[in-house]
Amino acid sequence: MPKNEASLSPHVLIFPLPLQGPVNCMLKLAELFSLRRIRTTFLNTHHIHHRLLDCTDNHTYFTRYPLLRFDTVPDGLPEGNPRTGDQIPNLLNSMDAVAVPIFRQMVTSGGPYGPDSENPVTCIIADGIFTFAAEIAAEIGVPLLYFDTISPCGLWTYLCLPKLIEAGEVPFKDDNLDEIIINAPGMEGIIRRRDLPSFCRTKDLNDRIIQLVLKEDKHIPLAQGLIFNTFQELESPILSQLLNISPNIYAVGPLHAHLKARVESLTGPEFRPETSTNSIWKEDKSCISWLDAQASKSVIFVSIGSLAVMTKEQLFEIWYGLVNSGSKFLWVRRPGSVIGADAELEIPLELSEGTKERGFIVKWAPQEEVLGHPAIGGFLTHSGWNSTLESIVEGKPMICWPYFVDQQVNSRYVGEVWKLGLDMKDTCDRAVVEKMIREVMVLKKDEFLETAAKMAELAKSSVAEGGSSFLDFDRLVEDVKTMKI
Ligand code: UDX
Repeated sequence: MPKNEASLSPHVLIFPLPLQGPVNCMLKLAELFSLRRIRTTFLNTHHIHHRLLDCTDNHTYFTRYPLLRFDTVPDGLPEGNPRTGDQIPNLLNSMDAVAVPIFRQMVTSGGPYGPDSENPVTCIIADGIFTFAAEIAAEIGVPLLYFDTISPCGLWTYLCLPKLIEAGEVPFKDDNLDEIIINAPGMEGIIRRRDLPSFCRTKDLNDRIIQLVLKEDKHIPLAQGLIFNTFQELESPILSQLLNISPNIYAVGPLHAHLKARVESLTGPEFRPETSTNSIWKEDKSCISWLDAQASKSVIFVSIGSLAVMTKEQLFEIWYGLVNSGSKFLWVRRPGSVIGADAELEIPLELSEGTKERGFIVKWAPQEEVLGHPAIGGFLTHSGWNSTLESIVEGKPMICWPYFVDQQVNSRYVGEVWKLGLDMKDTCDRAVVEKMIREVMVLKKDEFLETAAKMAELAKSSVAEGGSSFLDFDRLVEDVKTMKI
């Protein structure tokens, strides 16, 4: 047990799943803690840490906030066939082998953050998939908060998996993907089989991801609380269900908007902090000057995040859909995101000629800035949770083409529940792409923009002083300070 808790100054150790999406929002949380003068150590893998440091020299790693420090553990790269989504179990295996023993040594006696050190850790915040964190936190008698950086609606389907298996809803008895799911409380009438996470489409319950999720389900309730990157007004029905798993829920998102609001409240609106990028690829800012030359809401932004991939055939379907839609487009072609493609995929000449003034392609964009640009009228996205929240905050409607993890659930909620766009799940056809772009960017433009603007207002008020996320973060800070967790 640590020294007398009353004498300890709080020291939070944040340990994200070392991938772009989770690191992005966990870094925002770390910066929020250090704004509140809470000593915070952000534990990253060498692989991610050096890519962040290499990207830009004004990275948030050269933190503006003196109490945010960084440490690293080794790990393997997220190897694995992106098509089967097995990077994550592979990454966890490589971390188990090298990173977890070092993490344990760090926080136990003799370690730099152990109970007998100068800076003993007083609270661990870890990604919900790190089941080892529950064991280690219990070993050293320190509170653990799980922060699953995927969407709460996505996580809820993970937590319902044991019930779905017991009721025989997973694996699916037949091929009808439009069958409504019964055993996901709070999602009645919303979720069909096709909207469940893609790992539910397996026929083999011994599948690696299924087993990983079932193990995570057993560990999540062991934490003293759960942190979510969402806001009450967006997901209160799901957050109420999650209270059955843990009585202590902190909905503090959208974190990127929350951090921005808190920094501005401290420094005044005239202070424009440099856009604190957490990208692990170098952002190509030339697209901003191209956007500056475009008419308002005339450009559709296309990006599939940091992990999703597509085949060459799918790339051409999206390409022809974009070109035939008549809309201008800004397209992120992340290196390695097209399977089986040679480095510089040859697009048919007549298309590239015909699109010179119509389209702009970058390898990696300053996405938050792009989504906030007045020229952007819509977002064709893979429905990763950070991208979804960034689009919501900027009031930009979405066309959702989910790939895996929580993306299938997110795209259903965007299309069916929040009415913030269209769900293009399980489809990649040039005619459908063209039709959906026309619907979002022209035919139903005003309707989508009006609905998106209302949700954007709710998001921004939740992180403003007195808002639901603002108050939840203040409660989190008090609980961390007093260890009242
Ligand atoms: C992963 C999972 O895939 C996702 O489903 C889960 O919700 C979070 O972890 P990722 O696929 O990378 O995340 O998607 P997303 O959550 O959207 O995160 C991508 C981040 O990269 C966003 O913050 C986005 O702003 C940023 N980005 C993306 C850029 O900065 N530039 C780009 O060109 C593309």
